[in-house]
Amino acid sequence: MRTSILYTIAGLLAAATALPTAPTASSTAQPNLSAIKSVKNSTFHTYKQGGLVRAPLISGGLKTRSSLAARTSCATSSQFTWGDNDHGGPGLVITNGGNAWDGYYMYENSCDSVPFKYFWLAPGSTQFISLPAGFQGRVSRGTDAMNLAGQPQLLGTWLELSFDPYNVNELWGDISLIRGCDGGMLMWALDGSGSWKGFTQDVLANAPVGAWAEKPDGTWVLAPGEGPTTDAETTQYLLGAVGADNAFLNDAYGDPVISSQNRRYGVWMDGGRI
Ligand SMILES: *[C@@H]1O[C@H](CO)[C@@H](O)[C@H](O)[C@H]1NC(C)=O
Ligand SMILES: *[C@@H]1O[C@H](CO)[C@@H](O)[C@H](O)[C@H]1NC(C)=O
Repeated sequence: MRTSILYTIAGLLAAATALPTAPTASSTAQPNLSAIKSVKNSTFHTYKQGGLVRAPLISGGLKTRSSLAARTSCATSSQFTWGDNDHGGPGLVITNGGNAWDGYYMYENSCDSVPFKYFWLAPGSTQFISLPAGFQGRVSRGTDAMNLAGQPQLLGTWLELSFDPYNVNELWGDISLIRGCDGGMLMWALDGSGSWKGFTQDVLANAPVGAWAEKPDGTWVLAPGEGPTTDAETTQYLLGAVGADNAFLNDAYGDPVISSQNRRYGVWMDGGRI
């Protein structure tokens, strides 16, 4: 009797943890966030905009793809990966620093409706995610229900990435709160420069009521800093809580952009609000 109850509980636990099931190859080594953030910004280059491709705000689009970008059409379906093989090429070594499985969705600029690729990371796990040549776009948190439904899901923190159109060995990056903030992200160049940007503190916990905005699934996050639904109170709050040099708040502030000379970044994402 007792044995069968134990088996039942074990079975339930196994069922609960069996979804989703991932290969076990992921690295368990957590990045040392304080070591990464202890590198002084006077020792590496930071940029207001760098080689990130940005359209004038007046045109309505946050950004358009560079005419030099290799791709000419948007993805019509989304490719799932548990993590890509790392042959040393361009990409992200990305860690889910939260306490639950999280989904991440990669969009090319001006291709907002369908992510071309997405992946799930177990809590505390790290995977390599490759980037296609000429990529200009972002990675954001999400859910399959929202992000695979064919509608743009812009609200939230963006990890922005852009290959330099003129230097194929250079990958620009920043953490952008322009379209909102659903949690912390930290990025650091893996080229030995020590460059890093982003933040790891919980800036949602103490945000003023006027700074919030709601995702389609009812989750409350911080409002965009630019664009038609911009919220000045959010930007004022984030200037203090994050700082204009650590994340892209809007075009008026700071030097939030770095570049990686080997086209690779380490990335850490907190659990966020999804
Ligand atoms: C992380 O880095 C800090 C600062 O560089 C260092 O003092 C600490 O020992 C490191 N922690 C681990 C677990 O390596
Ligand atoms: C550099 O770091 C200092 C101290 O943290 C900060 O006040 C400043 O805004 C940073 N500047 C840039 C360009 O990142």
